Amino acid sequence: MNITIIGAGNVGYHLSQRLKEVGHNIQQVFSRRTDKVLRVSKIVGAQPIDNISSLQSGANLYIIAVKDDAIGDVAEKMRKKLAGNTWVVHTSGSVPATVLAPYFNNYGVFYPLQTFSISRMADFLNIPILVDSNKELMKNRLYQLGETISPKVYRINDEQRAKLHVTAVMVNNFTNHLYAMAEDILKKEELPMEVLIPLIQETSKKVSLFPAKEMQTGPAIRGDEDTIQRHMAYLDQFPDYQKVYQALTDSLKRMYDPK
Ligand SMILES: NC(=O)c1ccc[n+]([C@@H]2O[C@H](COP(=O)([O-])OP(=O)(O)OC[C@H]3O[C@@H](n4cnc5c(N)ncnc54)[C@H](OP(=O)(O)O)[C@@H]3O)[C@@H](O)[C@H]2O)c1
Repeated sequence: MNITIIGAGNVGYHLSQRLKEVGHNIQQVFSRRTDKVLRVSKIVGAQPIDNISSLQSGANLYIIAVKDDAIGDVAEKMRKKLAGNTWVVHTSGSVPATVLAPYFNNYGVFYPLQTFSISRMADFLNIPILVDSNKELMKNRLYQLGETISPKVYRINDEQRAKLHVTAVMVNNFTNHLYAMAEDILKKEELPMEVLIPLIQETSKKVSLFPAKEMQTGPAIRGDEDTIQRHMAYLDQFPDYQKVYQALTDSLKRMYDPK
């Protein structure tokens, strides 16, 4: 396929490289920042553009990988350069595909469900691709495109994707925030984060083998109130973290002892 990528952030950076790697042609890459767009376009051999007005027609697919709140505005600008029947998708987990409907007749979503950072390699063989479109033919083509970069492709509609995204935030964004809190505390206490790494790894390994609910351990489900009170007292110096600790402890108690 001949593909243009709009956005050279975490997703634009990795997705354009993976698409190129499996044989697709990347026609143009857009970012408002010249340094960012050059970094990606050089790797994938695409024309770099830092203004939407330089967008060319002729690609089979335009993939918008900009921040969620900018997708509609960017699509509106793209429409000034592209015909209404152009195939356009975005990569967001939570924004409805219909955000593109006012501008394009053939629209959809191509959502790679993983946490992407430019500094970290992306292993697409282990990245589910969730596709959707308002047109059956386009949905099938997006599915086929997904299959070229990943063995795990799913057809998922706006409603399902929005719910899935809530859980993605829980398992990734929130757990990572908890890691960052732990990091902060350990730094203050001059203890190394590396002592926690085996625990973090075992926790995530277990959830791929058993139901998470059955794998829960710790003072909240054992009912070790004295331990919880000691933790809460220590956390007096971290009021924000204390609130999170209390909220999660309460939630755990409700899940395991709902009386
Ligand atoms: N990161 C993830 O783990 C992940 C995973 C799956 C899906 N997604 C989705 O993929 C999309 C991109 O996420 P990301 O993590 O790649 O974001 P990012 O690294 O923050 O990059 C966002 C890009 O959006 C561009 N942008 C922001 N406001 C803009 C505007 N008003 N007009 C034009 N461009 C604008 C920025 O462009 P400039 O370079 O011009 O500033 C930047 O290149 C989002 O919809 C996100 O929900 C992200």
